[in-house]
Amino acid sequence: MKKILIINGPNLDMVGIREPGVYGSQTLSSINCEIKSYTESVGIDCDFYQSNCEGAIIDKIHSVLNDYDGCILNAGAYTHYSYAIRDAISSVNKPFIEVHMSNVHSREEFRHVSVISAVCKGVISGFGKNSYILAVKALEEII
Ligand code: DQA
Repeated sequence: MKKILIINGPNLDMVGIREPGVYGSQTLSSINCEIKSYTESVGIDCDFYQSNCEGAIIDKIHSVLNDYDGCILNAGAYTHYSYAIRDAISSVNKPFIEVHMSNVHSREEFRHVSVISAVCKGVISGFGKNSYILAVKALEEII
């Protein structure tokens, strides 16, 4: 069975409380339950990880090398400036998909820049919780 990892970075544990007009009112654990139902229905094993710490996210990205077939990453604000996360993705020869719940291009200018897009297979942004499901569907095609 193929196995994927979904990583959520800083402040995504606050989804449901945080800026509901942008991120919706559903909690991350409830979104993860919906993703799990989808991955089970298509026969993919899926693990979830969330951290607010850059180093912990990097360690988890490294684990993709031996433990997973691919990874979906919402790096939160680290997307816009973490060269360390970019280098971690580059270190692991597995497909990564960059995800954002909001449409980062319709928001503040600093969110228009991603330092990780170039080392990911593709980017999905702007579909709320469905961004994750769309990313799983994209990953399914390439793992
Ligand atoms: C986000 C967009 C980022 O700009 C922001 O810092 C986040 C969440 C999104 O899912 O839309 O924390 O990645």
